[in-house]
Amino acid sequence: MPREMEPARMADAVRPEAIRVEGLRKAFGPLEVLKGVDLTARQGDVVAIIGGSGSGKSTLLRCINFLETPTAGRIVVAGEEIRCRADGTPASRRQIEGVRRTLGMVFQQFNLWSHRTILENLIEVPVHVLGVPRDQAVDRARRLLARVGLADKEAAYPAFLSGGQQQRAAIARALAIEPRAMLFDEPTSALDPELVGEVLAVIRDLAAEGRTMILVTHEMKFAREVASHVVFLSKGVIEEEGPPAQVFGAPRSPRLQQFLKSVD
Ligand SMILES: Nc1ncnc2c1ncn2[C@@H]1O[C@H](COP(=O)(O)OP(=O)(O)O)[C@@H](O)[C@H]1O
Ligand SMILES: [Mg+2]
Repeated sequence: MPREMEPARMADAVRPEAIRVEGLRKAFGPLEVLKGVDLTARQGDVVAIIGGSGSGKSTLLRCINFLETPTAGRIVVAGEEIRCRADGTPASRRQIEGVRRTLGMVFQQFNLWSHRTILENLIEVPVHVLGVPRDQAVDRARRLLARVGLADKEAAYPAFLSGGQQQRAAIARALAIEPRAMLFDEPTSALDPELVGEVLAVIRDLAAEGRTMILVTHEMKFAREVASHVVFLSKGVIEEEGPPAQVFGAPRSPRLQQFLKSVD
């Protein structure tokens, strides 16, 4: 059932903020890629970010967990503002690491560790970084692999899996740290068309169970179906945003109208 048709969800005011971005700017040398972006995801929100290639979508996601250092602005994760020095770099490595452990990130290129089995990929961070007892981590990993349809692949190395299977394993790995929110950066764009559906099915499932997520995607039908809020990024600013029915059904900005035509 599309989100827009769901019975009223909890009122905004009572759902805590999971991620807040305020006045985010990011420049690479002379190139200003993000020019003041504000975005809030409350618990249970599925925020879809759409926009043309080069509009700053990946940079925005990467700034949220400080894989890129913002030039200006504030990032607040679960109520905790990431503290920065005057030059913009994070003041506390430990704080960044803590924040990253609450955000599960899934990239376009899967990024599994190629020299580790699928099971090892899932337990590496829980066991070696988070201190979860190995048995417990293995149990949880097996449940997650079953959930994404990979119960029989735990002993395989990534190279022996299809792209769709690798991406489902990468999603299971991101879930293995029990994140508060998931960040997806075009999770299906590197896949052959026939493998896209199986990955979207897993993400749809996570949305349906009320997981908080920010999802950069070029799958417009999917964004319309699963998102609670859609953000259209153009030239480093939010050109238009709103509920999916409005953004896709009645776009106001000429740039958004043009973009939607181009991806139709
Ligand atoms: N590390 C970097 N160094 C220099 N330029 C970058 C870097 N990362 C991204 N860019 C540039 O920033 C712009 C936005 O990139 P990106 O956020 O990847 O866009 P999108 O994900 O929307 O396609 C592009 O012009 C890209 O070339
Ligand atoms: Mg990108």
